[in-house]
Order: sequence, then C-alpha cells, then structure tokens
Amino acid sequence: MSGIVIQAEGLSKTYGRCVAVDNLNFTVYAGDVYGFLGPNGAGKSTTIRMLTGLIRPSSGIARIMNLDIKNNRAKAMQGVGALVETPSFYGCLSARENLNIFAGLSGGCEEGSIDRVLRMTGLAGRADNKVKSYSHGMRQRLGIAQALLPKPHIVILDEPTDGLDPQGMRDVRQMILQLKEEGVTVFLSSHLLFEVEQICTRVGIIDRGRLVMEGDVKSLLKMESGPVEIRTADRERSLHVLSGVSGVRVLSCNGESLFIDAVPDAVAEANRALAQAGIKVYAVIPKNASLEDLFLQLTEGSREK
Ligand SMILES: Nc1ncnc2c1ncn2[C@@H]1O[C@H](COP(=O)(O)OP(=O)(O)O)[C@@H](O)[C@H]1O
Ligand SMILES: [Mg+2]
Repeated sequence: MSGIVIQAEGLSKTYGRCVAVDNLNFTVYAGDVYGFLGPNGAGKSTTIRMLTGLIRPSSGIARIMNLDIKNNRAKAMQGVGALVETPSFYGCLSARENLNIFAGLSGGCEEGSIDRVLRMTGLAGRADNKVKSYSHGMRQRLGIAQALLPKPHIVILDEPTDGLDPQGMRDVRQMILQLKEEGVTVFLSSHLLFEVEQICTRVGIIDRGRLVMEGDVKSLLKMESGPVEIRTADRERSLHVLSGVSGVRVLSCNGESLFIDAVPDAVAEANRALAQAGIKVYAVIPKNASLEDLFLQLTEGSREK
C-alpha cells in the first residue's frame, strides 16, 4: 500500500509567547508505524491534538486522508482510532460495560468487536471486573481497546506506554506490531528511542516544537560510524583522559556514560588509555545506531532544562 495518510503542513501552535509547535512538516504513509519522538515538552501532545482536531492550529494544516481536519473533522476522523488524553471510564462498571456504552454512543460496533479488542489488549481475563479495581496499566489498555473498537485503519496514540511497567510496555508494543501486521497505519509519540527503534518503520524527531529529522528507521540505523558508549567509574577523569586520545571525539555524556565517535582502532586506544589512567571501564558498547547519537545530540539542550 502507498499513499499519504497523515500530513502536517507548516503546522504551528502558540500559547501566548510559548511556541509549542513550530512550522512542522511531516508525512505518514499507509502501512507506516510512524514514531513521533521527542523529549518531554517537545510539542508531541500538542501536535497530536491538532492532528485529531481537539485543538486548532495557530497556522498550517493537519490533514488525514487528504482532508483538512479544521473543516472536515468528522469525515477525516472516520476510520481513525485515537488515544490522546487520558480517557475517563465509569469505575463502577466493568471494562466490557464501559466499552458497550462507548460503542452505543458512537453508533454501535460490529458483533464480536468488544471481545476482539479485549483480547487484543490482554484484558479478556479481567473484562468483567469493575474498572475501579484496575491498575493504571489496565486503564491504559482499556483506553487503547476503546480506540480500536471501530476497527480503525489509522491509529493515533500519544505515548501509549507512558506509565506502564516493563511487561505492560512490551504488551503494548506487541499489540502495535500486531496492528501493523493487519495493515493498520500507526502514529505514536514516544520519548523513548529504543521503543521507536523496536517497532517503528519511520521516525520524526521533534525538539522544542521543531522537526529536527525525519526518515526511514532502517536506513538511519544503517548509517555508518555510529557512536560508542563507554561506561566508567569516573566520568570527569575519563573525559579528561579521552580528550588526549587522538581520533576520539566525545559526543555527549549521560549519567555515567560517555558517547564517543571513533573508528575501532581509536576505541581500543581509548580503552587502553582509560585503563592506563587507572579508571575502571565497565562497558564499551558500540551503538550502531546513529539514530541514538542524533537523538542525544539534537535534544541535549532540552533534556538538561
Ligand atoms: N494549553 C497549553 N497552554 C500553554 N502552554 C501549553 C499548553 N499545552 C502545551 N503547552 C506548552 O507547549 C509545550 C509542548 O507541550 P506538549 O505538546 O505537551 O509536549 P510533549 O507532549 O512533547 O511533552 C510545552 O512547553 C508546554 O508547556
Ligand atoms: Mg505529551
């Protein structure tokens, strides 16, 4: 399948003096799992609210299936399942009852749909328990179940794994991969690079409201001369030592990790120099992911805020 499914054209949103989203252009094609990646506060939710017509852009256009959301929201959102804000449910009713009510409000759903989405989101076993007994993760799954109820061919999810435990995160990722298998186009936001790497086909990186990179995940990962992560016991001294090793360029630091750009021989040299200086090296990890390098570099300023 090809064809443009979601498109942002010069999309901007300002709140007073705050430019939350700044002249965004991106395109999502049919069958993509598009990762909208950026640190907290980058403008992901604001963009998704504009895409789904919950708020109006200050300028620019958001289109779904070639329809301007501003003028054609109802039609554009047909066939779109979205989880944007934290959905509210009736706590005294079960998941199944909540979905039944939602289906009724939105004009009914196909026979068996409720069981289908309960299965997909792993809630089948607890479907008849009251929602007030649900954990945050289960409510999140129920929100996704609700978004999937109309059998959408486009699914838009704002940080679907946020606040979930590792198992819950894995389950949601698995579910997204299943949607992909079924040919559903998925647009999801995340602040986690590895998550986007694992499940997305294309990625747009946003920082301080601006798109800083967009591309095909596979080809970005194949880009040469990826950084190497070095974990040592003493970051400051390591930095000093590494500054004296030729062919080594320190890209960034994060906690006890240093990210360097170096050819393999220079990496070996860096390791030797650190050992010689009496600094324990716990790990040398090649990051054949220049995506990570890019993400760290591009978003460093805002993560330190
Ligand atoms: N309703 C609002 N009023 C004022 N500022 C807002 C509003 N919504 C978002 N912002 C600001 O816009 C920026 C982007 O926010 P948001 O889209 O929520 O980022 P993200 O989802 O990437 O964490 C932030 O600086 C945030 O404070
Ligand atoms: Mg957000």
